[in-house]
Amino acid sequence: MTADDLFASTAPFHTSAAPGTPPPGCPAHAGAADRRLYGENAERDPMAVYEQLRQQHGSVAPVLLHGDLPAWLVLGHRQNLEVMQTPSVFSRDSRHWRDMKEGRVPADHPLVPVTAWQPLIVFLDGEEHKRLRAAVTRSLSQFEARGIRTYVTRYTHELVDEFAGAGRADLVTEFAEQLPLRVMTKLFGMLDEGPRFRDAVQDALKATASAAASNDIVTQGLADLVARKQHTPGFDLPSLLMNDAAGLSREEVREQLRLILTAANETTVNLLANTLRVVLTDSGFRGALSGGQMTLPDGLEQVMWDDPPMMTLLGRWATSDTRLGEQHIQAGDLLLLGLAAGNVDPTIRDEDTVVRGNRGHLAFSGGTHECPGQDLGRGIVETAIDVLLSRLPDLELAGPKEDLSWSSSLMYRKLDALPVKFTPVRRELTPARAAHDAGSVRSVPSSPVATPPAPATAAASGSGAPWWKPWARQG
Ligand code: HEM
Repeated sequence: MTADDLFASTAPFHTSAAPGTPPPGCPAHAGAADRRLYGENAERDPMAVYEQLRQQHGSVAPVLLHGDLPAWLVLGHRQNLEVMQTPSVFSRDSRHWRDMKEGRVPADHPLVPVTAWQPLIVFLDGEEHKRLRAAVTRSLSQFEARGIRTYVTRYTHELVDEFAGAGRADLVTEFAEQLPLRVMTKLFGMLDEGPRFRDAVQDALKATASAAASNDIVTQGLADLVARKQHTPGFDLPSLLMNDAAGLSREEVREQLRLILTAANETTVNLLANTLRVVLTDSGFRGALSGGQMTLPDGLEQVMWDDPPMMTLLGRWATSDTRLGEQHIQAGDLLLLGLAAGNVDPTIRDEDTVVRGNRGHLAFSGGTHECPGQDLGRGIVETAIDVLLSRLPDLELAGPKEDLSWSSSLMYRKLDALPVKFTPVRRELTPARAAHDAGSVRSVPSSPVATPPAPATAAASGSGAPWWKPWARQG
């Protein structure tokens, strides 16, 4: 069966209909509902949709994206790796997309912003990709894990200070959504314009009425930043990129910075929120941490198997006719990498498979485009959780875990809120806070007013080490 056979029922593409709304009663769309990766079903429970597709089609399934645009969803772990590791056949270059070339993707289609080709690391293959990627990886590698952890610790304290006295917080909006951007603006060397710029980035990423204006602020902010760093370079990402041996132009630096901002933010926010959710809702996970059977870094890998920050990854485009799994892929077909589905592929994993500490998951993709920021992402999340739990050791979910809800889009499944309660504590005097407060606040206690009780497991251990990292006892 070819893609055209499979998708014949969806042609022609109705450009006049709003994306996602096929004409009522249209026989051409009969049976399409099961293959849609948009709409109510897919948004409510994407994993259930992937499993149904796996049962019907095996490791590679024909799916429909907004407006019933055809694509392949790669569900098998092995097949995902095959696609990631064979760029000559499965290209990152969206200009291969047949539906786009033949005018079936309207200009206002919701996928256009993530598929319209641009000279960015994510749309390139071969030598051009190597050149830009080398500059990005070399520059990122300059930031030592230790140094990054210092900033993450400081920013985590700052964020916790903002809600520590209340005894309640939403760890998604007040913590997970805030931290990665603070770290990134620090790496970008944006000290003064930090808060305004961060607000604009967050707003631009959401579909708000002011998103376009915020996007302009981000674009202008990055252009100003690059211009400034050209004259006064520092130890920051723009300066490192600009002075890299690959010889990037100013525009190239600005655009890679913009890409890094988006690539780093939503993924790290989700990893942090997803891991905190597991810590707070899965007594086995928390028990393994507190009992010393699992380290936090190992736990993180488990979360990336079970609840990866990106559900799917768009995309790859076939450069020639080929076979993948049981399907015939045609030149120009769009493929979506099923990162979450591949992680639970029953051919590589069953209920007994130990995934703690195992880095074989697909959360960071693989092959030539594998995430170059993964160590940074891991470092941010590990440090943030470490510091958060040491500040608020009796942190617990406020309300039943069944009340938690998620919002899903094609690539992301995002926790809406993570309400928690804890014994209120006063602000910690961090160096940053101290500098900020100098002269205005005379005496701020440097330790919590009340030392909250640790959970029973830690209390029972009788150790002075924090309950979530008992391995520290050996040190
Ligand atoms: C824990 C959080 C993160 C996750 C789960 C994640 C995941 C991913 C994934 C799945 C890709 C796509 C690879 C492909 O196309 O096959 C990617 C690419 C990328 N990520 Fe990350 N990422 C994370 C954090 C970061 C951070 C912190 C940075 C930078 C500071 C970053 C920078 C990038 C860049 C530049 C690319 C494009 C690489 C290329 O196309 O060659 N990511 N990431």
